[in-house]
Amino acid sequence: MDSISGSFKPDPDPLDELDRIIPLDFNGVHELPESHTWTQPNDQPTTTNLSVPVIDLQDPDSKELIRQACEKWGLFQVTNHSVSASLLNRIDRQSRRLFALPAKRKRLVIRSPGGFTGYGVARIARFFPKLMWSEGFTAVGSPEVHACQLWPHDYTTFCDATVEYQNEMKGLADRMLGLMLKCLGFTREDLNWEKTNRSGSKPAQGLLQLNSYPVCPDPTRAMGLAPHTDSSLLTLLYQSNTAGLQVRHGDDGWVAVPPHAGALVVNVGDLMHILSNGRFKSAQHRAVVNKARHRISVAYFYGPPADVKIGPAIRLIDVDHPPIYRPVTWKEYLDVKAAYFNKALDLIRSDAFSTER
Ligand code: OGA
Ligand code: NI
Repeated sequence: MDSISGSFKPDPDPLDELDRIIPLDFNGVHELPESHTWTQPNDQPTTTNLSVPVIDLQDPDSKELIRQACEKWGLFQVTNHSVSASLLNRIDRQSRRLFALPAKRKRLVIRSPGGFTGYGVARIARFFPKLMWSEGFTAVGSPEVHACQLWPHDYTTFCDATVEYQNEMKGLADRMLGLMLKCLGFTREDLNWEKTNRSGSKPAQGLLQLNSYPVCPDPTRAMGLAPHTDSSLLTLLYQSNTAGLQVRHGDDGWVAVPPHAGALVVNVGDLMHILSNGRFKSAQHRAVVNKARHRISVAYFYGPPADVKIGPAIRLIDVDHPPIYRPVTWKEYLDVKAAYFNKALDLIRSDAFSTER
């Protein structure tokens, strides 16, 4: 009878579908909403006696250090990378300028479901019951179409900075790829996709992701960006001056990756893990938030040309080392990841049952 007499209470509202697409207007939110409260506490790094390698690219031993870092951590920081401090400052400033716009304006350029570019929540949001304390903006090449809507009278400052930043990151990512391949014992020329590239197919692709983690009223119960691995070959991340990135180190738990003046974080992605036939680790990482400072990070995801299949490199395969994964294009991999998230790598294992084979 209770339900008829009116004391029946439905389950707490499931999240509105729109909440999964449009970030919260963080301005003036002084209490963590239920929708953003994670039940698993956002614990501090469990270990402080380990630290992620910081590698000077001009160090004669850098190759060996990179090899060790890729095998043990899947993540490291680099200095002397030749990207200018002024460009890093510029992209940081332009990111802050974008996220400081009123929510109403940012929502003019919301990323469409299934689309790649524009403003929105973290792409992995739909795999988690709670929402993350962050917002993002994605660009591939010039973001002119979106920038015109954000700043009708001054969109070139933003476009120039983001395009220049992508060009610089592409150069550094190419160089890091070359170094990683050398660590595995072969060169870029051994990759078939470099050959197709020269014969005129599209160059390697990159995607720029600006991340904003607003000041949070209750950081221990919030999550900036939930644990994940990147789907790229490698990712270059700039975090200007506020800590928040953490990386998983086996059974030791989470290890903080503090900003190191002028350094860039290099992250081994799932495709590099596949290419190395499992030798390089794709790092599981996450971002936590804080009470005092608005944190900005800028990620550049670097991947192969669209038509190239990435599989374990032939040079790493012999009778004792059979290929662990089947070859996939970046797009195919992103589709598997979009459907199965952290099970994606298992699903493309050579010994996994698959109707596609
Ligand atoms: C990402 C990411 C970490 C950060 O954008 O994929 O992991 O510190 N970002 O913002
Ligand atoms: Ni990431």
